[in-house]
Amino acid sequence: MSDLIQQEWQSLAPSGVKVRYFLECGSTNNLATEYAAKGFIEPTWFVASRQTQGRGRRGRAWASEQGNLYCSLLTKLDVPMSDLATLPYLVSLAVRDTFIGLGCAPDAVSCKWPNDVLINEKKASGILIESAAGETSRLDYVVIGIGLNLAHYPDDTLFPATSVVLETGKEATNSTAFRFLADCLNERLSKWTPPTIAGLVEEWTKASWGLGKRREIRTADETFHATLVGLDETGGLKLLLDDGSQRSLYAGDVFGTTRQGGSEVD
Ligand code: BTN
Repeated sequence: MSDLIQQEWQSLAPSGVKVRYFLECGSTNNLATEYAAKGFIEPTWFVASRQTQGRGRRGRAWASEQGNLYCSLLTKLDVPMSDLATLPYLVSLAVRDTFIGLGCAPDAVSCKWPNDVLINEKKASGILIESAAGETSRLDYVVIGIGLNLAHYPDDTLFPATSVVLETGKEATNSTAFRFLADCLNERLSKWTPPTIAGLVEEWTKASWGLGKRREIRTADETFHATLVGLDETGGLKLLLDDGSQRSLYAGDVFGTTRQGGSEVD
C-alpha cells in the first residue's frame, strides 16, 4: 500500500486516532485483535476495501466484496467488562448518524436489537464487538467491527438487507462513509459515561425498530414469539411473553412475525 493512500485514509480520522488501510484482508476484526495481542493498543482503525473472511454475529459469515465499508476500531476503554453491554447501542447510534450524514432520511433509519441498523426496515449494516479483559475484569481492549452496505447487499440473508445507494439513490464511497463514521463514533465515545446510560437508552429507544410489537425471537436454543418492551438497565431486551410473563434477552436475533417468500416481514 502506497504511503500516499495511507496518508489519505489517515486524514479522514479524528485527531489522535490512527488508520491502517488494506486493499484486502481476511477480517478487519482479526487484524485489530492480532495487533492488540502484540500489545499495540493505541486507538486505531483497520479499514479494508474487501475482506476474504468477513465475520458476522453468532458465527455467521459477512459477505465483503469491494464497494461497501469494512472497518474495525481497536481501542482501550477504561471501563469494567460489565459496562460493555450498552456499547452496542452507542455504536448503533453512531452508524445511524452516519447513514443520515450520507443522505438517509432520519425517520428511515432505525436500530434493531441488539445492534443492527436498518434503512426502511432492511438491514444496512452489521456490528461485531469483541473484547478481552485482564485479571481485574477491566477491559484490556475492545474491537468494534462495522460493515456498512453502501453499494451492494447480500440477497440470501435471514433478515432482508439493503444498501445506501438502493434506498437513497445516492452513491457513497467507502472513504466518505468512513469519515462520517469515525467522527460520529469518536464524538459519542468521548461523551460516553457508563454506567449512566439513561440518555443513551432514551435515544436508542426513540430510533428503535419493533418496540411494542410482537416479534419472533431466535436464540441458540429456542424460537418463540414475544412483544418487545424495551431495554433494561443492563442492556438486555425486555420481552413480554404470550403467557404474560416477562424476561430479558441478552443474546439472539429478532425477526418479523410473518414469512413471505422466505423473507421476514412486519
Ligand atoms: C453482523 O452479523 O451483523 C455483524 C457483521 C459485522 C461485519 C464487520 S465488517 C468489518 C468487521 N470485520 C469483520 O470480519 N466483521 C466486522
